[in-house]
Order: sequence, then C-alpha cells, then structure tokens
Amino acid sequence: SLPSKGFNFQVLNKETQFPEQFVWPLKDLVKSCDQKLDTPLIDLKAIKNDDAAMAAAAELVRKACMKHGFFEVTNHGIDHDLIAATYQEFESFFNLPLAKKQSARNNVWGYSSAHADRFTSNLPWKQIFTYPYNYISQSPSQVVDFFKVVNQRYCDAMKELSMDILELLGVSLGADRSHFQKYFEDCEGIMRGNSYPACANFNLTFGVGPHCDPTSLTILHQDQIGGLEVFVDDKWLPVPPRPQTPDAFVINIGDTFSALSNGLYKSCLHRVLVNEKAERKSLTFFMNPRGDKIVKPPHNLFNNQEERKFPDFTWSQLFGFTQKRHRADADT
Ligand code: SIN
Ligand code: FE2
Repeated sequence: SLPSKGFNFQVLNKETQFPEQFVWPLKDLVKSCDQKLDTPLIDLKAIKNDDAAMAAAAELVRKACMKHGFFEVTNHGIDHDLIAATYQEFESFFNLPLAKKQSARNNVWGYSSAHADRFTSNLPWKQIFTYPYNYISQSPSQVVDFFKVVNQRYCDAMKELSMDILELLGVSLGADRSHFQKYFEDCEGIMRGNSYPACANFNLTFGVGPHCDPTSLTILHQDQIGGLEVFVDDKWLPVPPRPQTPDAFVINIGDTFSALSNGLYKSCLHRVLVNEKAERKSLTFFMNPRGDKIVKPPHNLFNNQEERKFPDFTWSQLFGFTQKRHRADADT
C-alpha cells in the first residue's frame, strides 16, 4: 500500500503493478489528434514601436483567443539564462529527499506530490512547488527558504512581461492600450515549478488532467519534451515545444480574463500527457487581479445592451471556491 502523502516516482515506476490511484477513467483517456493547435507566435520586440505591426499581431491574438485562448510570444526580453536558472532552482529542490520536500508545505502553498493530500484517485503524475508572488520578500518562511534570488527575479520578469501582453490584449479587444495594464497594476501572481517524471504507464495517466485555469492569464514556459494539449472542436490538439524558439512562452486565457472580455475570449480545457522515457519540466506563472477587485468587462467595450455573461465576482471569491471544490472532489 502507498503512503497517503507524497510519492517517490522512480520507485513507483519500477513496480510491476501500476498504482490504481494513478489510473484515470477511460472517458478521460481520450486519444490526441495528429494535428497541432494553431497558435500564433508573436514577436513582442517587433510590435513595441510599430503601430502597424501591433495591429497585425492584435488581430492574430484576437482570432486565437476567440477560438481557443492560446498564443505564444517570443523576443520578450527575458534572458535565456534566467529561465535556465529558474528551472535549476526548482530542480535542486525536487532532488531533495521526499520527507524534506514534504516539510515545505503550508496550507495551499509549497510542495505537492501528485496532489495526494487533496485526492484519493485520479492522481496526476507530477510534483510541483507553488507560492504566491511577493510571498518570498514579504513573509520569509520555511516554505520558500529554497527559492530566493532567482525565483524572485523570474517573477519580477513575469510581471513585466504580463504588462506587454496586457497591452496587446487591450489593443486586440479594441480597449484603451493601458486599460488592462491599469487594472492589473497591483496584480497577484502565483508561481509554480512543475516536474512530470517519466512514466512507464504513460497511456493510463495524466501529468495534469483536463481542466480550465481559473486565473486571468497563464504564462507557461515548457521544455522540449512536449505533452500540453488543448480541447478544441472536440479534439485534443498538442501545443508542441518550438525547437527554433525554445525561450518562447505559451500564454493562455483563464476564466477570469474570459469574464473580463465578457466571454469573447475563451478559457479552454487543456491537459498534460506524461512521457514514457523523459521527465518533462515547465514553469507556470498565473496572473490575477488584486483579490478584492471586481471582475467586470470595461464599459467602453461592451455596450449596455449586451448581456453580461458573468455576474460580478472577485478573484478571492473564485480562488476560495476552487480550493473548496478540490476538497469536495477528494470525498467523491
Ligand atoms: C497546467 O496546465 O497546469 C500545466 C501546463 C504545463 O505544464 O504545460
Ligand atoms: Fe492549466
């Protein structure tokens, strides 16, 4: 029998019987499509001081966001070495003994292995470390002892990058260029390092099962292994890594930004497959409005006749709701 919290994936991988907690139901184990998801790759440098280039990029982003909510950015000004060092910092942590990793946990933040503390079945084949942005500088605790300089720099870079993306999204929606930048000025971020170990039974489980992000924007860096897929037109379409531009970030619209666009921009179901031979790593930064800010579409965008697709809510309410739902799921 398995320990109730946390797993050593290398050990599990060698067992003759794949642990049934990790086996997902057949209704979820739907095959991927051969086709790839069509995600525009936006050159952020090229659109910086060129209105025509900005308008063209905004049109591509608008199309992609109305269809599925995924696009990619390159030439974003974030140093390759910073990205590499951030992976390295998480890797050093993930290489620690399990007991040590498990001690780095505080409520919803810190280390989590397969979400075994939340769920009893359909466990994801991954280990993660999650913390709120600014948490490091504001409240040093055992949870974040491992991540100091590099992670802080990476989060600062993510916040800056998100401002460029919000400008592009503003233009794409026909709003004021700085509308969303102002709205997210005092944003709350959540940073996460993901490690999806190699899995002999890759076809029975998921790194992350099908889900939508409740957040506003997700800024993902993925390594060159692949596994992310999005559900569009009843098909699971891969978002493969880009060997030509390995530093590109995948941006996806979450539920909160979808509400800010009055549902025009989609927050789509996505999942992560695990690889038979290789560990996959990724970095996710989730951007959200300050917790108590009301989430509603800008007045000048959607006239009064247009029906509001979502009632007023705050990010705190939505985040609290998702946490409760996870706890309820664990009982079923
Ligand atoms: C996620 O959607 O939660 C993770 C994305 C990834 O690792 O590709
Ligand atoms: Fe996600």
